[in-house]
Amino acid sequence: MGRVDGKVIIVTGGATGIGLGISTVLAKEGASVVIAGRSAARGAAAEQAIREAGGEALYVRTDITCEDDCRALVTRAVERYGKLTGMVNNAGIFPRATLEDTTSELWDEIFATNLKGVFFCCKHAVPEMRKHGAGSIVNIGSANSYIGLPHLFAYSVAKGGLITLTRNLANALAPDRVRVNFVNPGWVITEMEIEIQAKEGHDAAWIEEAGRRMPLGRHQVPDDAAYACLYLLSDEANQVSGDILNVDGRGLR
Ligand SMILES: NC(=O)c1ccc[n+]([C@@H]2O[C@H](COP(=O)([O-])OP(=O)(O)OC[C@H]3O[C@@H](n4cnc5c(N)ncnc54)[C@H](O)[C@@H]3O)[C@@H](O)[C@H]2O)c1
Repeated sequence: MGRVDGKVIIVTGGATGIGLGISTVLAKEGASVVIAGRSAARGAAAEQAIREAGGEALYVRTDITCEDDCRALVTRAVERYGKLTGMVNNAGIFPRATLEDTTSELWDEIFATNLKGVFFCCKHAVPEMRKHGAGSIVNIGSANSYIGLPHLFAYSVAKGGLITLTRNLANALAPDRVRVNFVNPGWVITEMEIEIQAKEGHDAAWIEEAGRRMPLGRHQVPDDAAYACLYLLSDEANQVSGDILNVDGRGLR
C-alpha cells in the first residue's frame, strides 16, 4: 500500500527541480500525478520516467499565469482520473533584484507566477475537492517568505503573501474538509539554482562549501520537500491545516 494510493494530485512545475522530486515521490506512493508546466518536452519526459518506474502520470501543458489554462488543467485531470484530491502549487520563478532594480514589469511577472497563479489554481481546484468531499493543497514557499534577502525583494514579498493565502484558505475551507498548508524547502541546488549561482560568480566548490556550513551540514534536496508534501497530501495529516512545515535544515529560527 502506498501512502497516497488512489489520490489524484496536480503538481505545478512538476517536471523539473523540486517539482519533479515531488511528482516522482507521490507517484511512487500510489497517486495519479498530473504534471502541469509550460515545456511539452520536459513534461513528456517526466511523464514517461514516472510511467517507466511503474507509476501513473499525465502531463498537461499549462501556464499558471493564464486563468483559462488553470481551469483547463483541472478539467483535464478530472476527465482523466474522475476526481481531484490534491494540488501542489510548486511552479515559481526567482529572479534576483533589489528594490531599486525591480522594474514594474519584473514585479508584475514575479507576482503573476508566484502568487496570482496559485490563486487561479486554487480557485479552479477547490470546487472539485468540495465535490469529492475533501482535499489537500500544499503551497511551496521559501525561507525568504519571512523577511527575505535584499536581492530577492519582489520574490520575498510574493512568497510572504503566499503564507497569508495559505492561512486564509485553510480557515475558509476547513468546513469543506479542504486542508491548505505551506512547505518551505530551504536551499535546494536545482538546475535553476545552479544557473543563478553561476551568474553571481559562485561555482560548484563554493556551493558545496556553503552547504557544509549549514546547521544540519548540507543543502536540501528535492526529496526533502517531496516527503513533507507526501505527508501533507496523505490522510496521515488529515488534522493538519494552515501550517508551515520548514524543511530547511536550520533548527530554531
Ligand atoms: N531551489 C531552491 O533553493 C528553492 C528554495 C525555496 C523555494 N523554492 C521554490 O521551489 C519551487 C520550485 O523551484 P525549483 O528550484 O525546483 O526551480 P525550477 O525552475 O526547477 O522549477 C520551477 C518550475 O516552475 C515552472 N514554471 C515557472 N513559471 C511557470 C508558469 N507560469 N506556468 C507553469 N509553470 C511554470 C518552471 O518551468 C519549472 O518547471 C519554486 O516555487 C521556488 O520558489 C526553491
